[in-house]
Amino acid sequence: MRAIILFDSKTSGGSTDKLIDLIGLKLAESGAYVEKAKCKSTGDYSFVKDFDVVIMGAPIYYLMVSSELMGALLQSNLKSCLQNKKIALFLSCGSPELMANLLYLPQLKLNLIGSTILVEKIFAPDQVSDHSVIAHYVDELIGTYKKGQE
Ligand SMILES: Cc1cc2nc3c(=O)[nH]c(=O)nc-3n(C[C@H](O)[C@H](O)[C@H](O)COP(=O)(O)O)c2cc1C
Repeated sequence: MRAIILFDSKTSGGSTDKLIDLIGLKLAESGAYVEKAKCKSTGDYSFVKDFDVVIMGAPIYYLMVSSELMGALLQSNLKSCLQNKKIALFLSCGSPELMANLLYLPQLKLNLIGSTILVEKIFAPDQVSDHSVIAHYVDELIGTYKKGQE
């Protein structure tokens, strides 16, 4: 499986960086080929066609998904490049999961109609370095991906 992690964060070395490092590590341990790319709202996302799975996510700042990822979905060719793609979503935020599911995940999902969402997860601050939580997310991702291949 070839996987690309598309992410955004305003913080270098913060929660999101820790989270995507661990997601990448767990995927690589399972035999996947993994690359990471930080989103830019003006980017060209044609390269996603070279990947089987797009893992996409960002933190929440002031109730909104981090701006370069949202900008990429709204202004660049990212949305069209994700058509018919298999996607795993993640968000890192401080709000309770219920609020995040209602307010934050839809910001991404409303722009992903036509894609297949393999797994989605809200990571609380204490979960971004938790190996077992992240291993569970990656296992679910791989399991759903393999089921779709059968
Ligand atoms: C300026 C700022 C605004 C934030 N606003 C929200 C928010 O509206 N809702 C929320 O759930 N978390 C909010 N958070 C928490 C972050 O989403 C959370 O700490 C995230 O893991 C930070 O990721 P980062 O370390 O990659 O920047 C905010 C954090 C910061 C620093």
